[in-house]
Amino acid sequence: MKEYVIEGGKRLTGTTYASGSKNASLPILAATILNEGTTKLYRVPKIRDTKITLEILELLGCKIKRNNDKIEINSKDMNQVEIPEEQMRQIRSTVILAGAILGRFKEAIFSYPGGCDIGARPIDLHMNAFRKMGVNVREEAGYIQCKCDQLKGANIHLEFPSVGATENIILAAVKAEGTTKITNAAMEPEIIDLVKILKQMGAKISGEGTNEIEIIGVDQLKDTSYHIMPDRIEAGTLLCFAAGTGGTIQLKEVEPLHMIPILEKLEECGCMVKKEKHEIFLEAPRRLKAIDIKTMPYPGFPTDMQSVFGGMLSVAKGTSVITENIFENRYRYCQELNRMGAKINISGKNAIIKGVRRLSGAKVEATDLRGGASLLMAGLIAKGTTRIKKIEYIARGYENLEEKLKGLGANIKIEEGE
Ligand code: UD1
Repeated sequence: MKEYVIEGGKRLTGTTYASGSKNASLPILAATILNEGTTKLYRVPKIRDTKITLEILELLGCKIKRNNDKIEINSKDMNQVEIPEEQMRQIRSTVILAGAILGRFKEAIFSYPGGCDIGARPIDLHMNAFRKMGVNVREEAGYIQCKCDQLKGANIHLEFPSVGATENIILAAVKAEGTTKITNAAMEPEIIDLVKILKQMGAKISGEGTNEIEIIGVDQLKDTSYHIMPDRIEAGTLLCFAAGTGGTIQLKEVEPLHMIPILEKLEECGCMVKKEKHEIFLEAPRRLKAIDIKTMPYPGFPTDMQSVFGGMLSVAKGTSVITENIFENRYRYCQELNRMGAKINISGKNAIIKGVRRLSGAKVEATDLRGGASLLMAGLIAKGTTRIKKIEYIARGYENLEEKLKGLGANIKIEEGE
């Protein structure tokens, strides 16, 4: 199995760019099922999650042409409604395909979704919404079968503004009969991106980016081409890598407006942050200051940035407190950081981080995608050599990470581990 080997202690300095968004790509790839023709997508990141989703689309009967960052998907001849279990197990977001398959074929079959183990990741909100839209949902031997004669628009109030459930309902409602209203909808920028492409295809949707979204069902969609939004989590991660190592970074191809909660926290740590239209410049102080963070649905501080900040704050001056309000099992990386000399105590939803002067390189193991990025952060800061195992978790979400880091001056390579 491959491992990252990092010689830490180098200040990251230079210019790099953000890739296309993982979390926007996945529902948008699902949306191509609803357009029974050709959709051209640009800036789909080359990462494991998109690779698996594309594999599924092919297995379902779609034709896919890839040319660098351009992907052409023709779903005209798609003829399967069952998501293959092997792929389903590998990423949780395959559940998003269910709404689109159901929207097109009135039937979808899949097993329980997999993905990172960052806490119970139920799909009850998705299934309850489908039921409200007239779908018969049956669970049998680990399989979920959704079927209906006609998908019907409905008023759906989400108990929690789930990103995935909001996207799934939108996808199912685009071609449903009548109007669907989602209240307490998630407001994440990735939802706006999904709605933008659906509107280009001819869908009738309003309210995206607010907590009330309305979808009026249409009979047919049309071909389109679309550029996926920049990945705000990857962008935030790269900024933290520079901030944690006391470096300076110019980040291109980003959307600073999506990153306000992240940028404000970096400023609170003592970083100088300059925002241009599609660029961010960050200069770190000699030593970061401790801060408190509470994860919240957008526009709050994103849970996906929590662990990378945890790694960065492990060497800040003072004590930081992180409160994780979205996923209950997102502190497993802290144990690994403590092996590198960090002083983190977990108490329920809180991680109390006593900043130390320096971390020391160690052999550690990635526990999930963003937790893995946190170990990379620690490895870049630490004195000596850090070996990170299970880097396939990190490959799920970061495109060209090794090259981007090397370009900023990091001493990092991938080696075959024991
Ligand atoms: C998406 C993102 C993920 C991010 C998360 C929160 C993708 C592919 N993934 O995940 O990176 O961390 O949003 O910003 O876009 N919940 C239920 N029942 C459900 C669905 C969710 O109880 O049916 C709960 C979850 O357990 C969790 C919370 O709602 O506690 C948030 O989950 P959700 O917003 O659905 O996250 P995902 O869409 O899975």
